[in-house]
Amino acid sequence: MNALTTELGALTIGRDGSMLGATAGYQQVLGGMDGVYRDRLAYRRQLTDRGPDDLVYSVTEHRAGNDAGALIVGTSTLRPGSYGEEFAMTRGHLHAIADRAELYHCLAGHGVMLLESIAGDHRAVELVEGQAVHVPGHWVHRSVNVASVPFVTLFCYSADAGQNYELISRAGGMATLVVKDVAGWKTVPNPDHTGYQL
Ligand SMILES: [Fe+2]
Repeated sequence: MNALTTELGALTIGRDGSMLGATAGYQQVLGGMDGVYRDRLAYRRQLTDRGPDDLVYSVTEHRAGNDAGALIVGTSTLRPGSYGEEFAMTRGHLHAIADRAELYHCLAGHGVMLLESIAGDHRAVELVEGQAVHVPGHWVHRSVNVASVPFVTLFCYSADAGQNYELISRAGGMATLVVKDVAGWKTVPNPDHTGYQL
């Protein structure tokens, strides 16, 4: 692959979330997840044990531009773990331009895409390798890792979408929790959720 094709978006994507041709990326560490998990004590215990710089998930992306017609193509790699009854998960967000949709395609692992509308509908879509979920615009979304190996997804969304994280924290968390169960995982209502206020 030469430099020109990479610039134009020729990407090599690994099942480990690696992306040859990426233009940006970030790492979400444990210290930045304060208030995300409902069991604050379990979170603080892990913070003490693992330290604030321990990795929770990493994101890598290719962005050709920032205008509405451009796409962001990237990968998310969410490490396994649990915090009390809850599984490891991403912060979750609504797109800042809320009508922007997104595609997630599972490359490896086993996870759940939690989807919630502002009006109160919710879905939990289970994903294993080869499965995908189309997240429509106006839906809050979050990845949850329900297995003991990394949950890796390929995602694609409009470059101008942005992320609104505060909506979830203002609402006391998402309406649904993904927790351990004899069958592996299940969803339960979050008693702290107060409803989404745009
Ligand atoms: Fe998104």
